[in-house]
Amino acid sequence: MLQRNATNSGATPIVETPSIWETTASALRALIDRNTPGEPERQAVARELRSLHHHLRQTTPGYQGALEDALAPESRPPAVGWSWKVLADNPAVRGGLLGIYAGRPIPAHDHPGSRGALLVLTGKLRVTWFAIQRQMPGDLTELRRVAQQDCRAGETALIDAGERNIHHVVALTERCFTLNLLLSPFAEPERSWYLPIIDTEPDVMIVRRLPRKAPLRATVQ
Ligand SMILES: [Fe+2]
Repeated sequence: MLQRNATNSGATPIVETPSIWETTASALRALIDRNTPGEPERQAVARELRSLHHHLRQTTPGYQGALEDALAPESRPPAVGWSWKVLADNPAVRGGLLGIYAGRPIPAHDHPGSRGALLVLTGKLRVTWFAIQRQMPGDLTELRRVAQQDCRAGETALIDAGERNIHHVVALTERCFTLNLLLSPFAEPERSWYLPIIDTEPDVMIVRRLPRKAPLRATVQ
């Protein structure tokens, strides 16, 4: 959006007003650094995302419509996997509406070097974070579970560039919708899925690491 600076009508510079996505992304950059953010930062991120949600509801008819469609009693989940509706996609920030469904977890995956957050809009979900404990021969990797968090509506979960980057998401209700925001870099060629093979200890499992060239089963709307 462009607006004129009314206090300097002579030169009349035109300044670019950052979009709400860029404003939110900028706030999140300051809150989520490479170290694992604490509870105060998580609460601050939740406030930023709730504010983004309310702004989108008031200003973006497509957003409100997508929410209503998703929550309508007669709406059907995608045939497989989860749904992803893109709302913002530029070099600095990606955002969208994620729909996940009971019995269809999003497998563990990473966003190398990136940071981000999700805000639960409806339903409840569980996020589990993993760290790479050991590289093994071939495409096998040993992952260690480092954290787990259940989120209900209004709560947020963070992805950082450190130990809380690889994550697995499962719906704890029949369906769950979240508003997601991811900050650059996106490092697409380096992204991976981590598909479990066997648990070796309560918090340790061996997985097959696959290049994430395409979503496994996301339905992009
Ligand atoms: Fe993710």
